[in-house]
Amino acid sequence: MKKILITSALPYANGPLHFGHIAGAYLPADCYARFQRLQGHPVLFICGSDEHGVAITMTAEMQGSTPKEHVDKYHKVISDFFNKLDISFDHYSRTTWPGHVEPVQKYFKDLVANNYIEKKETLQLYSEKENKFLADRYVVGTCPKCGYDQARGDECQKCGASYEATDLISPKSKQTGSALTSKPTTHWFLMLDKFKEPLEKWISQKNWKPNVTQFAKQYIKELHPRAITRDSKWGVPVPLPDADGKVLYVWFDAPIGYVSATMDWAQKKGDKEAWRKWWSDDETHLVQFMGKDNIPFHAVIFPAMTMGQNEKLKLVDELAANEFYNLEGRRFSKSDGWTIDLEGFFKKYSTDQIRYTIAANAPETSDSEFTWKDFQSRCNAELLGKYGNFVNRTLVFTRRYFPDALPQLGQLNADDEAFVKQMHEIVDQAKEAFSQFKVRMGAKLIMDLASLGNVYFDNKKPWALAKDPAMVNELQTVLALCLECIKCLALISYPVIPDTSQKVWNLLGFDKPLNQFKWDDIAKTPLKDQHLQEPVLLFRKIENEEIENEIQALKSGSLKESDTSLKQSDPKPVSNAPSSQVTFDEVQKIELVVGKIVDAVDVPKSKKLLHLQVDMGGSVRSIVSGIKDHYQPQDLIGKKVIVVANLKPAKLMNIPSEGMILAGSDGKMLEIPFLQNIAEGSRIS
Ligand code: MF3
Ligand code: ZN
Repeated sequence: MKKILITSALPYANGPLHFGHIAGAYLPADCYARFQRLQGHPVLFICGSDEHGVAITMTAEMQGSTPKEHVDKYHKVISDFFNKLDISFDHYSRTTWPGHVEPVQKYFKDLVANNYIEKKETLQLYSEKENKFLADRYVVGTCPKCGYDQARGDECQKCGASYEATDLISPKSKQTGSALTSKPTTHWFLMLDKFKEPLEKWISQKNWKPNVTQFAKQYIKELHPRAITRDSKWGVPVPLPDADGKVLYVWFDAPIGYVSATMDWAQKKGDKEAWRKWWSDDETHLVQFMGKDNIPFHAVIFPAMTMGQNEKLKLVDELAANEFYNLEGRRFSKSDGWTIDLEGFFKKYSTDQIRYTIAANAPETSDSEFTWKDFQSRCNAELLGKYGNFVNRTLVFTRRYFPDALPQLGQLNADDEAFVKQMHEIVDQAKEAFSQFKVRMGAKLIMDLASLGNVYFDNKKPWALAKDPAMVNELQTVLALCLECIKCLALISYPVIPDTSQKVWNLLGFDKPLNQFKWDDIAKTPLKDQHLQEPVLLFRKIENEEIENEIQALKSGSLKESDTSLKQSDPKPVSNAPSSQVTFDEVQKIELVVGKIVDAVDVPKSKKLLHLQVDMGGSVRSIVSGIKDHYQPQDLIGKKVIVVANLKPAKLMNIPSEGMILAGSDGKMLEIPFLQNIAEGSRIS
């Protein structure tokens, strides 16, 4: 039987996590692990804190602590968070545990011995003022690819490009703002280009999501040697005599953390070599979960590193990469106050409420988001209104009419047969969904099953059957089937809402925990002798007022002054929540027209406004536009822009404004799209 080794991306111990992280790499992995355990597969679910790297030394410095104190603190914060969320890791390790060093250094030495690593003198960014080399995140500058002016030293958080810090345009020290110069220093480079062929061959056999495979293939084409060492004291030391003051790049040591975390697990259970049964065995199926920003390292770089060293180790089989999960239309951001206070959250709401909400809306194929309104409706309309309600009404009713023994199944009529059939179809679909880590589908099927049960219950009107002694057999059949449905509900909801599922299991009168049974056995074995328990409240109703308060708290939190030294103005993706969708007809209502700016003047006494005259292809309109910070009036004259032509006219600073100019903005920059060839007066659609 296949053994399943599951990993979730090792989170940086550099601050608390939020639900955005959970939605990508942890909850889906946990649902998968729980599901595969129920299938009877040996499962090992491994994770740990990623504790090296310059992002960590830098935050530690800014917070006035040592890197060690810093990671100790957040390692605990993060593991507590995972516990709160019932993430069922078999082991949660950390890359500062002493046993991590040896396998990392061995990887490096093997790669050197096999001629995959070269030593080169290169230029690195140096701060004369601070008298040291600055790596990666100590540096900001303009992205060589997209021009974003707050790009980090190793990768651009706006366009995702990765590069060497020396490729940045006008690099500066992140901490002091001082300009940097390039100075020679020695570093070791992994010759990734040597792995192109084996990687291409290996990846062509994979059946990953098309966008993952596509991305990886493109990435492989562009592989080139990459520096894997840094000038720093924090990290795994480069195991060579001439490498004082050099450590391995965090992205070199972190993925080896999956292996070392398994070694840690093995040692702790007193069987030092047990890790090999997972990592060095062809019977192992390795499934790795991560956010989409981690794809290159898992799909290409770590596999290349593993191919180039001497230990027999598994390469990733399934790569489950998820998109981003936002908060009310924006990226979660602690420094912007755009976040959820987790301590408060868990005082008010339950783990299963948030697990279900995230699963139901998981960012599997596109970015998705947490909204408080959605949370409320998932909790009230679905968990409470469908799931909780069905369990409760069935149990209350059955206990009232059959207090001593379970109602017995009699003759099934066509409705009953159809109900049984649909019920088992949903169970099979759920099995299929979870085996492909489609938690969103899994969550949907849970509610489909609860609805199915409710509809059947409503149609059968057991309260009416109970009045007629001649119908007692029918009544028994209806309730027996509803209980069967509850059993299936407990089963298929276990991966997503394990706590509730276990409660329901207990209500059905089982003593042994659900996870000591197997999926197929539960699905196929009818309920027999157990004694139904008195129903308990499974989910609490969330009041409108509570949700209003949460939304208020979010909005006011985001307005608070925050520590700007920590602030990164991440691009804010556009929400794709259903509530923000418009129909084609609604879009058509907005009249967008090409206009040519024929005059532009300053609006006196206004900080932001310019007064434009815009030729709309016949008539000239007066338009007041808040773009003074970004454009000089004279530079606009003669330019063709996009105008919302049917905007209700208004007066700004007493000047009539008869339209609006479209522009893009990220809160800092503002950019007007200019048209080249289309004549003024043309419609944009
Ligand atoms: N710490 C990284 C992040 O949070 C992920 C590391 S995954 C590993 O993006 F493969 F390196 F372990
Ligand atoms: Zn960029």
